[in-house]
Amino acid sequence: MTYTLEEFCADAHNAMENDSGSAGRDAIRAHLEKLLVNSDFVHEHLSTQSSGKTLLYHDQEFDFYVMAHGTDAGNRKGKPHDHGASWAVYGQATGMTNMTIWHRVDDGDQPGHAELAEHETFPLKPGHAALFDTGVIHSTAHPEPARWVRVTGTDLDTIERYAYDPGRQVMKRMTP
Ligand SMILES: [Fe+2]
Repeated sequence: MTYTLEEFCADAHNAMENDSGSAGRDAIRAHLEKLLVNSDFVHEHLSTQSSGKTLLYHDQEFDFYVMAHGTDAGNRKGKPHDHGASWAVYGQATGMTNMTIWHRVDDGDQPGHAELAEHETFPLKPGHAALFDTGVIHSTAHPEPARWVRVTGTDLDTIERYAYDPGRQVMKRMTP
């Protein structure tokens, strides 16, 4: 049986209804892995996503968003960032994402100043999804063209969140 986008959205909704905390988010991650291997879904919703993002679903009750992402560029490297008070699940469909998790090592006392230490790097490969829970700082890199799905706890463009430059030890608000 092929697992469809509609089934995923319904299962994600139910997962939030059962537990809107980490357990529910991890259940969404597990459900997303089933969707990522549906080649019809990948063809229909991701194959033409050569850059940027497209909204696939917004849950009215729990306010989570499901988005199609993609890049056809090689060697695309993102800055470390947090997801504010929200969380994000990243699921790989094609290509791969090199994920790096960073730990904040300063005390946060100095405005605009942030010191990060690289904690862990792992490749996110097709059919796999990873949860970045509230407070996690991560960065993504795409060595080759890739397609992925991102589920976020709310609209990340509207909440306070930060991007980090570990080399210069600065942090900058990403949203107005
Ligand atoms: Fe992210």
